[in-house]
Amino acid sequence: MDNHNTRLTAMVEATTPDTGSPFESCLIEGRPDPSIIVILGASGDLTERKIIPALFNLYLNGTLPDSFLIVGCARTKMSDDDFRSKLKKALINKKNLDHQKWKTFAASLLYRIIDYGSLQSFKNLADSLRDMDKKSGTRGNRIFYLAIPPSLYKSTALMLGKAGLSTGETDGNGWSRIVVEKPFGRNLDTAIDLDRSLHEYFREHQIFRIDHYLAKETVQNILMFRFANAMFEPIWNRQYIKNINIIAAETLGVGHRAGYYEQAGILRDMFQNHMMQLLALIAMEPPSMFEADRVNDEKIKVYRSLRPFPTGDLQNYLILGQYASGIIDGESSPDYRREPGVSVDSLTPTFAGMKVFIDNWRWQGVPFYLTSGKRLNKKLTQIIIQFKDIPHSLFRRTLGEEIAANQLILGIYPDEKISLRFQTKNPGAKLCLRTVAMDFQYHQNYSGPLLDAYEKVLLDCMIGDHMLFWRQDAVELCWSFLTPVLEECEICQDRSKMLLPYESGSWGPESFKKPKESIPSRESEKW
Ligand code: BG6
Repeated sequence: MDNHNTRLTAMVEATTPDTGSPFESCLIEGRPDPSIIVILGASGDLTERKIIPALFNLYLNGTLPDSFLIVGCARTKMSDDDFRSKLKKALINKKNLDHQKWKTFAASLLYRIIDYGSLQSFKNLADSLRDMDKKSGTRGNRIFYLAIPPSLYKSTALMLGKAGLSTGETDGNGWSRIVVEKPFGRNLDTAIDLDRSLHEYFREHQIFRIDHYLAKETVQNILMFRFANAMFEPIWNRQYIKNINIIAAETLGVGHRAGYYEQAGILRDMFQNHMMQLLALIAMEPPSMFEADRVNDEKIKVYRSLRPFPTGDLQNYLILGQYASGIIDGESSPDYRREPGVSVDSLTPTFAGMKVFIDNWRWQGVPFYLTSGKRLNKKLTQIIIQFKDIPHSLFRRTLGEEIAANQLILGIYPDEKISLRFQTKNPGAKLCLRTVAMDFQYHQNYSGPLLDAYEKVLLDCMIGDHMLFWRQDAVELCWSFLTPVLEECEICQDRSKMLLPYESGSWGPESFKKPKESIPSRESEKW
C-alpha cells in the first residue's frame, strides 16, 4: 500500500512543471560587514557605467551593509557634491531615477583627490579613511577597487601597501581587499610580474580578480545544470557529443576604447578571460564540493589539458578578422581603422574563431569552437552542445539518412534560457519528422530581485567569497596557452595575411562558416 501511495505521489509530482522556490530563500542571510569601498579611478567610465549603478541597485535591494561609504578617488579636482552630481547625471541617462532614494544613497558618496605617483597622497587617503571609520562605524574594513588603466595596477597596489592600507584581518584592524579587473597582464611574463607586485603587500585571499562573465546568472547556472541533474552528466562526453560551440558575438565596435583595444585585440580582450572561463565550466569534471578552491582546482585541470596550438598549422585552428564598414541594424558603421584613436594601418584583430581540443579521457577528439567578434550581425552569447547523429536510422526508407542530431543550447544573451532540440513526428498521415525545442526561460516563475554581474561580484567581494573570481594559477595557465599564438600572430612576417577583413553586420570573415539561421553551427569540421 505504502509503495502504491509513493508511486502515486511520484506520478502527481511528475506533472508539476516548476517547483519554483520562494526568492527569499535565495537571498544572502544578513548583511555584509560594514565597510568602505574605495574606487580608484572614480572619474572614469567604469565607475559611472558599472560600479555606481551596481552599488545603487544593491542599496535599493537592501543588500548593502548598514554602515557603508563609497570613496571615489581620482586625479581630477572635484568636491563631494561635484562627484555626486556627475554620477547622478550618468544614472538619470540610464534609467528612471528615484530621486529621494538617490539622495539618501548619495550621502554615502565621498570624493578624495589622489596623485597615483605620490606616497604622501596615499598616506593622506589612509588618514581620511581612518577618520571616516571613526565617524561612520565602518570598522577598518576596506575594498580597493582598481578602476584605473591597467598600466597603473602595479604601482597603485604597491602604494596602497606602503601607505599601510593592505592590512588584513589578522592585524586586528579590519579587513582589506583589492579588486583588479582584467587584463591581468599582456602575456605570461607580465601577468606573473603583476601578480608579484600585488602579493608584495596583499595576500591571495585579499585579491579579487574580476571576470564579469562568471557572475552572469546563466553562466553560474552551468554548474548547477550539469551537476545537480543526473541525466546530462552520463552523456556529457566524447561518446555522445560531436562538438561544442561557444560564441560571444557583439554588434558594438571599439567605441572610445581604442587606446586599450589597439594593444589588446580580441584574443586578450575576450579569449584570455571570458571565453576560457566558459570553456572550463562546460568541460570541467565535477568538484567534490561546491567551494571556491575545489571548483577552481577542476578548472585548472581543464587548462592543463588544453592541447597546445600547432603553431606551424595555425590557419586550421585560428581565424582572425578585423571589421570593415557595413550596416548594423539599418545604420552604417565605420571601418575599424577609421574609428577614433585607431591607427590607419592597424593589424589588431576584432574577431577570432578558434578550434580547441582538450586532451583528456572525457573530451579526446571533441572540437570546441570558440568564436567572438565585434560589429557582428547581432549580440549573441550562447553555448551549443551538438550531440552526435543517431547510430542507425530505422526511418531511412521514408526519411533518408539525414536526421538532425540533438542540440542543447545554453543561452546567455539575449535569451537567458536552456533549450533542448529533438525530433518528433509531425502530426498527420504521412511520416514526417520535425525538429522541436523544449525551452526553459531562466527567469520563469521568479519574481524576486535580480542581481546583474557587477552587483554580484561587488557583493561577493564584500562577503569575501572567491567562487566567481580568477585564481592566479588559472590566469597563468591561460596565458601559457595563448601566449605562443599571440607571439606567432604578432611577430610573424605575414601578419597582415592572417587578418581577414569582414563586413560589419556579417558573421565574420567569408572563410568562416556562416551560422545557420540564428544559431551558429558549423557545417563542416574544417575551416
Ligand atoms: C568586456 C570586454 O570584458 O566584455 C568588452 O572588454 C566586451 O570589449 C565586453 O564588449 C562584453 O561583455 P558582455 O557582458 O556585454 O557580453
